[in-house]
Amino acid sequence: MNPFTFQNPVKLIFGRNQIESLKSELPQYGNKVLVVYGGGSIKRNGVYDDVMRVLGEAGMEVHELSGVEPNPRVTTAEKGAQICKEQGIDVLLAVGGGSVIDCTKLIASAAKYDGAPWDLVTGKARAADALPFGTVLTIAATGSEMNAGSVITNEETQEKYGWGGPLNFPKFSILDPAYTVSVPKDQTVYGMVDMMSHIFEQYFNNAENTPVQDEMCEGVLRAVIRTAPELMKDPENLDLRETIMYAGTIALNKFLEMGYRGDWGTHDIEHAVSAVYDIPHAGGLAILFPQWMKFNVGKGTKPERFAQLAVRVFGVDPEGKTTEETALEGIGKLREFWSSLGAPTRLADYNIGDENIRLMAEKASVHGPLGNFAKLSTDEIETILRNSL
Ligand code: NZQ
Ligand code: ZN
Repeated sequence: MNPFTFQNPVKLIFGRNQIESLKSELPQYGNKVLVVYGGGSIKRNGVYDDVMRVLGEAGMEVHELSGVEPNPRVTTAEKGAQICKEQGIDVLLAVGGGSVIDCTKLIASAAKYDGAPWDLVTGKARAADALPFGTVLTIAATGSEMNAGSVITNEETQEKYGWGGPLNFPKFSILDPAYTVSVPKDQTVYGMVDMMSHIFEQYFNNAENTPVQDEMCEGVLRAVIRTAPELMKDPENLDLRETIMYAGTIALNKFLEMGYRGDWGTHDIEHAVSAVYDIPHAGGLAILFPQWMKFNVGKGTKPERFAQLAVRVFGVDPEGKTTEETALEGIGKLREFWSSLGAPTRLADYNIGDENIRLMAEKASVHGPLGNFAKLSTDEIETILRNSL
């Protein structure tokens, strides 16, 4: 293991009807709240009414910012920061998925910063302060509810970057699995692909002696793989929704990433793709991750790691096979599994051709060679993208 310091201050409030705890959590940070949400799903499934009722009971002065886009735009965060400054907002409440939460993270910092919010995303400036915020999660996917990351799109420059820092941790997050029952099938699948991808990003690391971390990653992956097909058949089953919701949080609250640094290259490649084509994040991951894996096995980047995943998670029998054969069989099983859930397999599924492949490879590697487990050059990223067409 590498030496590490771990801290995660998010108060996690999990379970049925936990929305009531908003009443005690939110007023700790002031009286004026800006409620941030997306395109209206919370109005159709009753979550909005629940939140407004509790905020009313808590005597909060409520302001609203709606219309946060999937793949949230910096311009929307700018609008939110403006409201905070004009209205003297004390605290923010994100009600939605990763997009709403990520946008809220930027609003919180931009409200205390006088320059352009995009500076905070690119790292040109660092926020010295931020408004406090809480979240009510409505879709299991990103883990943003319990981490300090945020991913923001600049439509004008076709850039999408992750950024983060200690000020980006929510003060609290409320996770009621019942709120995820209305998530449509495609988004449910994307969420499960995303959480599995987060675990892969961490699993592929260069540290030695990580048996506990390995087993934790493999265990969460096995639980998701077992639960996913059942959930597709029975999407209103609260026990299954609960399992997936918890898995999504655990997959990216950094509990799995202690003692090493994960790869994260595939995420950067996907962010470059969705910056140019505005596709769902995990739709992109479902296409790219198996290709990233295949490319690295082909290149000889620690094939034994891929073989371990194949044996322990995908049940591949290594008997009589080379390490590479075992690894590739596991990758094939992953591809089959995601396809069986209905996830896309090729960039062509989103009508993406080869026009912008080089551009996307360049965007993905704008900060130099990509990834920690496997350092990829722009040409190598281009190959992975071409193999994904
Ligand atoms: O906008 P609304 O109307 O709320 O609809 C959303 C949206 O259309 C809908 N939805 C959410 N909860 C629902 C629901 N529909 C019905 N019932 C519900 N209960 O689902 C759609 C997708 O929502 P979104 O928030 O975009 O999904 P997700 O949570 O997957 O977030 C994706 C964003 O997070 C970033 C991605 O790049 C992408 O921009 N990521 C953030 C990370 C982080 N902060 O740690 C890590 C991830 O790797 C990821 O990059
Ligand atoms: Zn992701």
